[in-house]
Amino acid sequence: MRTETPPLIRLEEYRPSDYLIDRVDLDIRLDPHAARIDATLALRPNPAGVAGAPLNLDGDDLRLVSAALDGAPLSPDAYTVSPAGLSLLTPPRQPFSLRLVTEIDPTANTKLMGLYRSNGVYCTQCEADGFRRITYFLDRPDVMAVYTTRIEADRTEAPVLLGNGNRIEAGPVGADRHFAVWHDPHPKPAYLFALVGGRLGKVETQFTTAEGRAVTCAVYVEPGKESRADYALDAVIRSMQWDETAFGRAYDLDVFNVVAVSDFNMGAMENKGLNIFNDKYVLASPETATDGDYAAIEAIIAHEYFHNWSGNRVTCRDWFQLCLKEGLTVFRDQEFSSDMRSRPVHRIAEVRSLRARQFPEDAGPLRHPVRPRAYAEINNFYTATVYDKGAEIVRMLRTLIGAPAFRAGMDRYFADNDGRAATVEDFLAAFTAVTGRDLTDFARWYERPGTPRLSVTGRYDPQAARYTLRLAQSLPGEGGQDGAPLVIPVALGLVGSAGPLEAATSAQVREGVFVLDRSEAEIVFGGVTEEPVPSVLRDFSAPVRLDLALTDAQRMRLLAQDSDPFNRWQAAQDVALRLILKPDAGRMEAFAEALGRFLDGEALADPAFAALVLALPSEGEAADALPADVDPDAIHQARVALRADLGRSLRPRLERIDAALAPVPGAPYSPDAASAGRRALRNAALDLIAAGDPAAGAAWAAERLAGATNMTDRLAALATLALIPGETREAALADFAARYADEPLVLDKWFAIQAQIPEAGTLERITRLQDHPAFTLTNPNRVRALIGSFAFGNPTQFARPDGAGFACVARTVAALDPTNPQVAARLLTAFGSWRRLEKSRSAKAAEMLNGIKAIRGLSRDTADILARTLE
Ligand code: ARG
Ligand code: ZN
Repeated sequence: MRTETPPLIRLEEYRPSDYLIDRVDLDIRLDPHAARIDATLALRPNPAGVAGAPLNLDGDDLRLVSAALDGAPLSPDAYTVSPAGLSLLTPPRQPFSLRLVTEIDPTANTKLMGLYRSNGVYCTQCEADGFRRITYFLDRPDVMAVYTTRIEADRTEAPVLLGNGNRIEAGPVGADRHFAVWHDPHPKPAYLFALVGGRLGKVETQFTTAEGRAVTCAVYVEPGKESRADYALDAVIRSMQWDETAFGRAYDLDVFNVVAVSDFNMGAMENKGLNIFNDKYVLASPETATDGDYAAIEAIIAHEYFHNWSGNRVTCRDWFQLCLKEGLTVFRDQEFSSDMRSRPVHRIAEVRSLRARQFPEDAGPLRHPVRPRAYAEINNFYTATVYDKGAEIVRMLRTLIGAPAFRAGMDRYFADNDGRAATVEDFLAAFTAVTGRDLTDFARWYERPGTPRLSVTGRYDPQAARYTLRLAQSLPGEGGQDGAPLVIPVALGLVGSAGPLEAATSAQVREGVFVLDRSEAEIVFGGVTEEPVPSVLRDFSAPVRLDLALTDAQRMRLLAQDSDPFNRWQAAQDVALRLILKPDAGRMEAFAEALGRFLDGEALADPAFAALVLALPSEGEAADALPADVDPDAIHQARVALRADLGRSLRPRLERIDAALAPVPGAPYSPDAASAGRRALRNAALDLIAAGDPAAGAAWAAERLAGATNMTDRLAALATLALIPGETREAALADFAARYADEPLVLDKWFAIQAQIPEAGTLERITRLQDHPAFTLTNPNRVRALIGSFAFGNPTQFARPDGAGFACVARTVAALDPTNPQVAARLLTAFGSWRRLEKSRSAKAAEMLNGIKAIRGLSRDTADILARTLE
């Protein structure tokens, strides 16, 4: 007996709801084990639905206490009810009110969906379908209502009571309890509902919008950690300001609250006026957070805030349109971070993460279109494809129509769809409206899974001073046949021996962009006075795999001479990747020389960029570049060898960099991009030196660790040391654990570093760490730090030839599935590339996957990932 493959919900089967809900009045009494939800729904038949149809309300794990229709108790034969739903068999043909009282146990809610308790704080997560775990409802995003929520709780247990919208009333209830009433005037789908009740400290400030609205912004955290919320609060204010200038979007309530909770399935949630966050993406101090943490906090605060327009004011008609809010909002937060930091450096970071997470997803069994056509469990579609490839589509659209038209189209989109539940078609229609451009062909990006290949070859004719580029795209469609071509904006240029050839032009290239909308095309450049090196896909203008055969010397010319920082970085990556896949001493030496010249010339002028140039392609990227039969050990060894060679060749330069970037003693830490860039380069230099000379590296890293004055430097030194077996490492790890014994988020970094050690002993270490007092399966951050880092960040040990690494992850998935299926299913996606491994390893992976399949009563989340992974 095994779990069945769960049934599919299909986009083509969408139809409007038969009923609408205009108003929701909630009276919620918080209690650790018996929270009572008294909900009054103002319903009416939807003119667009089927007249007289039964009313089927969604439920999940609910207990109905009482039900009344227009004030009178429902007679037993008028409805059916179960924990999973409530149906009114013959609802009134006119507007009616339904009052439902349910009772739930927030403490027993380990799925962290619906109303639950995190460290004693009551909080909610309703996206995608958690509201049905609070009360029976039409839990679909195209049903939008105005909510008024009264929250009542014990005064000592929950002195802070927060809801969506503005607080309109508050006061005592008897001696021990109190209440607050929150009203949100903006109609919203149930997935944006939220409440919080608990003992919380806060930091707050005022912001006045461009429209003159005074907004109180606050960030709530565990009492005592208020000072760690300052950076998040500052990011809120900067986000509000930026959305006004960059997109003309102002905030629309009198309060904006952010609450940090420690048990959270994802990163954060954009509930209207009450964003709830994984505390990992709120809390920061120099002593506990790295530069990377600060950047992530800034980005996620911005992301959730930007959802207020792209997601909340304009929401999604159905969950197939998830990219409509997520892809667009990722694009918006990327633009924000680019404006706050270095645009080229940020672009490189975006592409690295796209290649690390989305490309493998798009190449494996879990691949799906940016707008999926069917799903069994929507929570499994909060993916890199929907988010990050979704953002790339928006970026391509802007490249195609130009920034001014893009802004006009966005204005049009918000104007036409404000207060509505929209579709991808509505989004594209806004841009067609302002440009007159037909975007039907472009829209194929939303429908076609897989990463297209772009093959480019060049030919130089010195007599005619002409250079011809031939471009061809391919993306096998369904059944392996080539589908219709995609519209691919290809930013490009030609680079000569002394820099970009400005005189070389082609009528087919506008503002540096050629639009490839056929399978093949030729671009002819005139006025080309020397043989150029083509710089193609500048700024990564489209999410494709580029095949362009250049020599190392040509690539090194791009690194040295190109005007496009992305392609300069890419050139070094390409040479390094080839050296990992096919080691060669002579080419390695030439590469080291070129890197040396680069470092001498400009490392100190732009340290953040230089640090990225020094960061070689990851083992995952190397695996992704191979057609099949991936042997993670071979990749690992080749990469280690290359790093060791580079570390030795570049050592004098790296030491100069280290000295030049040493912090001024006593200077305060600042998380700004320039300071972070200096730390990144200095730490990258140390790491590379250690790769070439482990003994010296260990001593140096230990010294660095002892003298570190912030978490960025401390953790970088620890990560360097973690790769060098020995006493020094173990002592440093023990010391770190003792120092941060009371800091769960810092211990997560400690778990993660150890889980990624590429040594046979790591599995044993993980077994030990699972018994560490700070580790628990009930907290998603802990699971991700220890087991997630192992599964996603330790390719050699996860894919050990004996299958023990797979087994460890499979055991965790099985243990977690009954209590938190979302996190279990996410962990299981680590097996996504199993078929590409060499035979003995893929056989072990299959064995483990089939072992999970044999488990009775798997959650829909896990069963869905499993079925698709094995497909
Ligand atoms: N909308 C949230 C975000 O912007 C993600 C919430 C997903 N949660 C879930 N349980 N599926 O990123
Ligand atoms: Zn989002």
